[in-house]
Amino acid sequence: MSPRKIIIDTDPGQDDAVAILLALASPKEIDVLGITCVAGNVPLALTSKNALMICELAGHTDVPVFAGCDRPLGRELVTAEHVHGETGLNGPTLPDPYMQLQDQHAVDFIIETLRAAAPKSITLCPLGPLTNIATALQRAPEIAEAVDEIVLMGGAYFEVGNITPTAEFNIYVDPQAADIVFKSGISIVVMSLDVTHKALVTPPRNEAFRALGTPVGKAVSEMTDFFERFDKEKYGSEGAPLHDPCVTAYLVDPTLFKGRHINVEIETQSELTMGMTVADWWGVTDRPANALFIKDIDADGFFTLLTERLSRL
Ligand code: RIB
Ligand code: CA
Repeated sequence: MSPRKIIIDTDPGQDDAVAILLALASPKEIDVLGITCVAGNVPLALTSKNALMICELAGHTDVPVFAGCDRPLGRELVTAEHVHGETGLNGPTLPDPYMQLQDQHAVDFIIETLRAAAPKSITLCPLGPLTNIATALQRAPEIAEAVDEIVLMGGAYFEVGNITPTAEFNIYVDPQAADIVFKSGISIVVMSLDVTHKALVTPPRNEAFRALGTPVGKAVSEMTDFFERFDKEKYGSEGAPLHDPCVTAYLVDPTLFKGRHINVEIETQSELTMGMTVADWWGVTDRPANALFIKDIDADGFFTLLTERLSRL
């Protein structure tokens, strides 16, 4: 089977970094056409720089990296240095990148790539706020035909919010963009907090990263050592939740995950619940199912896959 052609849209972020490393370590399953960066965890200049550093860490300086939107469609940018640190990639000491960003804007790259692609031939993998994806769909609605599916990290239902009582960060930062994406008619797989909070880097799992004895293994263990503080303090959890790597792991082995096709709509009116993913898990409305909402994971299988793939870099 030929590898799935994907565009990773991202706001690195330690967990974004691990998701990108997993994708680059899996060329039989995943062909990364490009990495498009968006403002989110930290401002765009840092998310873009971090993406370059991650590609160099992976030894994949061939991957084109693009800077995209530096603020949400209709709201002030909210960032998450309290979780990811002031650089967005706190933990390891990584050298400044020598790779350069592409001159082309990320949204133009997305539009150009999809316009040239066969129908349903490309998977979009958003790992941050959906500003780039929504902007591309607004400017060139016809590109939706080229998208096989969108596999994204975002939202929450049973787990409720992590940035407000009701909203998950990626959706909260740009709810208008999320509304456009969830109403696009494109098939969507949602890796929500309901599943990512079950993908915890416990101490033995982090030790397995460190035991790889490679620069990648060391960097990943140092990233999660830093990144876990927020969730351990807030939730008392056993370790860092690897949110974004659930997206790329799904592309490698979807059998690790379980969910339900349901209707998901985005709160864009009330400030009280802004950015909430209103997931009709129990089918109490007649709203059409527009998303495969993932709730469960084989966590041991996920970490076995992830650790083995990281060992290849
Ligand atoms: O809420 C978790 C999400 O927000 C992850 O994608 C993390 O990287 C941040 O972007
Ligand atoms: Ca992210």
